[in-house]
Amino acid sequence: MPIIKFFDTTLRDGEQSPGVNLNKEEKLQIAKQLERYGMDRIEAGFPASSKGDFEAVQAIAQNIKKSTVLGLARTVKSDIDAVYEAVKDAAKPAIHVFIATSPIHMKYKLKKSPEEVVETAVSMVRYAKEKFNHVEWSAEDATRSDIAFLAEIIEKVIDAGATVINLPDTVGYATPEDYGSMFRYIKENVPNIDKVELSCHCHNDLGLAAANTLSAIQNGVTQVEGAINGIGERAGNVALEEVALALHVRSDYFPYASSLKFDETKRTSDLVSKLTGMYVQANKAIVGRNAFSHESGIHQDGVLKHAETYEIITPALVGVTPNTLFLGKHSGRHAFKDKVNTFGIELTEAELKEAFEQFKQLTDHKKEVTDDDIYAIVMEIKTDSSNIDKYELIQFGVSYDTQDTPSATVVLKAPNGVNVEATEYGSGSVEALYKTINSLIDEEITLTDYQLNSVGGGKDALAEAHVQIKINEQINNGRGTAQDVLQASANALIQAINRYYVQKKATIKQLVHE
Ligand code: KIV
Ligand code: ZN
Repeated sequence: MPIIKFFDTTLRDGEQSPGVNLNKEEKLQIAKQLERYGMDRIEAGFPASSKGDFEAVQAIAQNIKKSTVLGLARTVKSDIDAVYEAVKDAAKPAIHVFIATSPIHMKYKLKKSPEEVVETAVSMVRYAKEKFNHVEWSAEDATRSDIAFLAEIIEKVIDAGATVINLPDTVGYATPEDYGSMFRYIKENVPNIDKVELSCHCHNDLGLAAANTLSAIQNGVTQVEGAINGIGERAGNVALEEVALALHVRSDYFPYASSLKFDETKRTSDLVSKLTGMYVQANKAIVGRNAFSHESGIHQDGVLKHAETYEIITPALVGVTPNTLFLGKHSGRHAFKDKVNTFGIELTEAELKEAFEQFKQLTDHKKEVTDDDIYAIVMEIKTDSSNIDKYELIQFGVSYDTQDTPSATVVLKAPNGVNVEATEYGSGSVEALYKTINSLIDEEITLTDYQLNSVGGGKDALAEAHVQIKINEQINNGRGTAQDVLQASANALIQAINRYYVQKKATIKQLVHE
């Protein structure tokens, strides 16, 4: 069966989702999970866009061994140099260079004539080829480009050294028939097309991304680009897990194979959702919470009699396992470490010590500690790389009474090591708590999003809070997990505040060095 290569852009196009702001450690954890998932190619970021992105791409390149690691570049020498510096240590380094080819983009955005766009694309692909064997070239807004012009520029960039040609539906405008026939035309009208791989890249503005991707595959594309859970600009990119499962479940119709390990699907989706703060809708195909539940009596009865009556994908296929009971009060450090290893997460000694202590505290309150609980604890420790002097929550109390105005008292240890304390009032417990924390820091915080979820089920489930805040026009996310909802909420806000200061410090350093 022909192989379809999977190219993940969760860390680049996906990270362009409004409000998503991953730190280096979080990006690295996602990249490692993508590698475990069997992803052929990982677009790790856009190194020229910021120092933080450069460092994250570099860390990913140095740690990922099986997947190809790419960085994105505009057709500008300095962008190409930045990608080279960031990925040169990768086992399989590669570059993705793009320029827009539609009349509207060339005229208004690039302010270049079509001839100038061809010349820029060719010279920059040639420049990239001096540094990389694997050069992917994208025609941004390909689906709104003149098809004869597209064929002409593709032929020239292939001669200049491109090895993969990607034709994105940048604004999610194409229909499956449009998109498929564009690839058919290119295959039939570009004389050197057999020298390269053809790739598709679909955005989901009209909800057609998966259908368009499948149509591209049926018309000769051998690489699929997309993001986990379909995150990305505006309505997002195609959800890779949906394409992978469509190919697998309907292999009678789509006779193509991939190297993805389907039983890592759910874990990959959970990790991306947790770290980006972009929760997956319950009815989302393949990975939504309800994707495998059967509500109506008729369906339940059918599934009990014979699962395939209503189930075309088994939960086990995508790694949805019963939430196995794990260790309890008397479990030792060794068993705990073994469990963490099964998640594929490596902890340093210090991280393991902290995770084990938190696990032990949890067993004091929670009888049945599950895999999900352990995973939540470990990821929280693993991805908090803000090892700067930061705000620390020392103590807090909230008073709530239906007859009285809620109030909160908070003690924080400030970055200078001094404890600060305040009391404020609010119209609810969380508002009082957040107002009090805000009164203890120098900046004005606007809360732009607040979500509370439970980790697993049961009345003693861990609470997981996610916040998005804006300080001085800078958006930061924070996550907090705790047994108590207010504690989780406080932890999430403090993490977001600390991230603001980490970024501020990095920006000041960058300005000083520029
Ligand atoms: O959607 C798009 O056109 C892109 C390009 C940068 C490849 O993401
Ligand atoms: Zn895109």
